[in-house]
Amino acid sequence: MGILSFTAFFITTIVLLSLSDSSIAVDTIFGTQTITDSENSTLVSKYGKFELGFFSPPGRNSRYVGIWYKDIPVKTVVWVANRKNPINDSSGTLKINRTGHIVFLEQSTSTVVWSAKPNKPIEQISTPILQLLDTGNLVLRDGKDDENSEESYLWQSFDCPTDTLLPGMKLGWDLRTGFERRIVSWKSSDDPYPGDFSWGIALCNYPESMMWVGSEKYCRNGPWNGIRFSGSPELKPENPLFSYEFVSSKYEVYYIFHLRNESEKSRVVVNQSNGNVRNRFFWNSEARRWDVFTTVPRDNCDRYGLCGPYGNCIIGESPACQCLKGFKPKGNLMEWSQGCVRNKQFSCQDKDSSGFVRFKGLKLPDATYTWVNASLNLKECRAKCLSNCSCTAYTNSDIKGGSGCVMWFGDLIDIRQFQDGGGQDLHVRMHASEIGGNSERMVEKVVVVIVVVLIILCGLVLLAHRIRKVKTRKGLEEGTSVLIINQNYEREVEDIQMLFFDLEKIVKATNNFSSSNKLGEGGFGPVYKGTLEDGQEIAVKRLSKSSLQGVNEFKNEVILIAKLQHRNLVKLLGCCIQGDEKMLVYEYMPNHSLDSFIFDKTKCKQIDWSKRFNIICGVARGLLYLHQDSRLRIIHRDLKASNILLDSKMNPKISDFGMARTFGGDQSVGNTNRVVGTYGYMAPEYAVDGLFSVKSDVFSFGILLLEIISGKRNRGFYHQENNLNLIAQAWRLWKEGRPLELISPCSKDSNNLSEVLRCIHVSLLCVQEHPEDRPSMSYVVVMLGSESSLPQPKQPAFSSSKDTVSADSSSSKHGSSSTNEITLTDLGPR
Ligand SMILES: *[C@@H]1O[C@H](CO)[C@@H](O)[C@H](O)[C@H]1NC(C)=O
Ligand SMILES: *[C@@H]1O[C@H](CO)[C@@H](O)[C@H](O)[C@H]1NC(C)=O
Ligand SMILES: *[C@@H]1O[C@H](CO)[C@@H](O)[C@H](O)[C@H]1NC(C)=O
Ligand SMILES: *[C@@H]1O[C@H](CO)[C@@H](O)[C@H](O)[C@H]1NC(C)=O
Ligand SMILES: *[C@@H]1O[C@H](CO)[C@@H](O)[C@H](O)[C@H]1NC(C)=O
Ligand SMILES: *[C@@H]1O[C@H](CO)[C@@H](O)[C@H](O)[C@H]1NC(C)=O
Ligand SMILES: *[C@@H]1O[C@H](CO)[C@@H](O)[C@H](O)[C@H]1NC(C)=O
Repeated sequence: MGILSFTAFFITTIVLLSLSDSSIAVDTIFGTQTITDSENSTLVSKYGKFELGFFSPPGRNSRYVGIWYKDIPVKTVVWVANRKNPINDSSGTLKINRTGHIVFLEQSTSTVVWSAKPNKPIEQISTPILQLLDTGNLVLRDGKDDENSEESYLWQSFDCPTDTLLPGMKLGWDLRTGFERRIVSWKSSDDPYPGDFSWGIALCNYPESMMWVGSEKYCRNGPWNGIRFSGSPELKPENPLFSYEFVSSKYEVYYIFHLRNESEKSRVVVNQSNGNVRNRFFWNSEARRWDVFTTVPRDNCDRYGLCGPYGNCIIGESPACQCLKGFKPKGNLMEWSQGCVRNKQFSCQDKDSSGFVRFKGLKLPDATYTWVNASLNLKECRAKCLSNCSCTAYTNSDIKGGSGCVMWFGDLIDIRQFQDGGGQDLHVRMHASEIGGNSERMVEKVVVVIVVVLIILCGLVLLAHRIRKVKTRKGLEEGTSVLIINQNYEREVEDIQMLFFDLEKIVKATNNFSSSNKLGEGGFGPVYKGTLEDGQEIAVKRLSKSSLQGVNEFKNEVILIAKLQHRNLVKLLGCCIQGDEKMLVYEYMPNHSLDSFIFDKTKCKQIDWSKRFNIICGVARGLLYLHQDSRLRIIHRDLKASNILLDSKMNPKISDFGMARTFGGDQSVGNTNRVVGTYGYMAPEYAVDGLFSVKSDVFSFGILLLEIISGKRNRGFYHQENNLNLIAQAWRLWKEGRPLELISPCSKDSNNLSEVLRCIHVSLLCVQEHPEDRPSMSYVVVMLGSESSLPQPKQPAFSSSKDTVSADSSSSKHGSSSTNEITLTDLGPR
């Protein structure tokens, strides 16, 4: 066996030495071998992911043995052996000594600065070897045993973590030996000595994830509730980047995570010199740096016991600390750490003197004094709690199945409130008088009454709206001036005449429609820039002359559209009608359209991720307004990047809204089955059957989102390997758990990966094949703005046509043809 291993060792050495001569590129130390600082030698894991060697922290001379990533350019130390005891020159040697210990010696003085011992005597080990694995784990094992079997490890560095939790590393306890693995920060950025901050699992009946400063509790993620730690609603089992697990058995209690794609890199670090203390990082291979994925504590409410006993921390409220209902502040209002006391104490003798109030959406209180029985249900749990005088609260111990019983004894401390359905229920014991009869039923009744009242009100408003609309039209036909009631959102157009521009004025402003003033060719005709006499800049859209729409109808529509006002819509200033010439006058947008930024290799750098996110949210709000809040309830029908204009501050404004509804009719006259819209953005039911609804706009919005994220066009997008369009590519990456590869190189700098991920998730929900599966714009706006969990998207529609149909179809270039395309002929008259 020994000979075999040695042969293998020599072969590996020869092969790897020829690759790199500055380091001994092998992953294993046998018997009498050493790695020595003065020779600059290192151990490299088999596939070159990690390296073990000697290092000095920046600006220091002291030498440490450590492990770092080998295959990234940023030196990132994930483990240190002699963190308490550096050597002061470069004469260190690491080896296995004759009793099977791993020892790190200072050569010049022969002092042992660090050592680790095998978990069984040397006589029972035939070939002790020390091996660095590609997980970053340094293991001592018997050379004859399997390197992948954890049971065969006589010692492993994963059992003595320093400040970093790597995938596959256990955080927590081995109850058989009473041995704890806890992450402890460095003392400072240049000193690996154990610092004050640590992170581990607090052992109690209901184990919880906890951070300490010294021996004081610093921040509590809360107990494991079957799905996640109660205080981490953002931890989602279905997240595409990593899976995690919490094991609590008779033998072990630990948390562990694994990457879904093992070529990615992620680590969780407790860092004392960083105000955020604990961060999860992901390696961004494009930007070649670590991006922060999550941070703990997130906010002040995460500080342990900030609001004291029975205090509830609600971020966003002022003050953040409030008493739970039925409790009042104990001390001075400014000193929340004293917490709250009961309005009325319940009596132990009289069972009927107390009951429970259910609080929703909480992080469960400190679980140090708890009792758990996984086989009781909630009702039994209540009875059990009621029968023990010191029981103050109970709830399900496992929310996955809604089962089990956990009871609290003594004061409830470190509670916080989560919005968006993140937290859990807690039933808190109260004096019967605080419960107020059947409070939950009361709430239900009140809700029903409110809903009924709202429905009636909505009905009335709609009726009033109808009546007014009829009146408005009548008024116009009679040529009188119209009073338009302002509905909060909509612009009051006091003087209708203001909306009509003289042709003379427009001709002058646009320099007689000179070609140098031409901004481009929009869906319904050319657009010119102009400057009015008072200096106001305008954009004039000259509608194609073929229009058959009557002048009165046209005026009517202009008046209605001019009233739509929202900060994310381009403002229609008015129109100009002269003979058969019809023009629309808009406010001028100095930064032109979004497509000129996102698809341009150089200009795309001007919009970083935060700007992109702002644009995404703005477009979503503008579209929501069109769909729901405006009184016309407009379906855009041609939402695309070139229809999103940007003002001087890069705020997005949707243009061409209302056009399809109003002027799209022009196009359909000559060609009854032509669909307005742009392929690539068109929902399948719209492109194929001509059916449109708000959900076809949602689809186009989804495509637009993907384009903003990826910087690639959906139509004409051609993926080298797979001939996939953008949706298909996004879907594939999502399925494979690497959606972040979609991000445009221009916004790779984003350090808000969870925001990017959320946008990708939302976009996939928007492009689902069936319109009924797609979210409404109001839900989209909610999803973009919250942290709550999202439904899983279904298979999207893979439309892959590259052509545009609308007034400018003649100007669109046909891409190289592909057999997979839906061609225009499919859309001929049926
Ligand atoms: C070790 O490596 C460093 C940096 O590569 C070099 O400056 C130094 O001379 C090397 N020492 C020996 C003994 O090879
Ligand atoms: C290195 O120097 C420090 C401070 O001078 C000292 O405390 C430490 O014991 C030294 N280490 C060794 C191994 O001599
Ligand atoms: C190996 O190192 C350990 C730890 O320093 C020590 O206790 C043991 O005596 C050493 N064994 C030999 C044979 O030197
Ligand atoms: C995993 O990630 C790497 C690097 O990010 C990528 O090259 C590879 O294709 C991914 N593999 C899978 C199966 O997603
Ligand atoms: C800790 O945070 C500081 C300040 O942000 C940073 O300079 C240092 O590199 C961090 N240390 C680790 C191990 O990430
Ligand atoms: C949990 O409750 C069940 C049912 O009442 C009981 O049989 C079991 O002994 C309890 N377990 C503990 C640990 O108390
Ligand atoms: C109430 O529960 C506590 C904790 O489990 C226990 O120590 C105490 O004996 C119980 N009291 C009664 C009256 O059952």
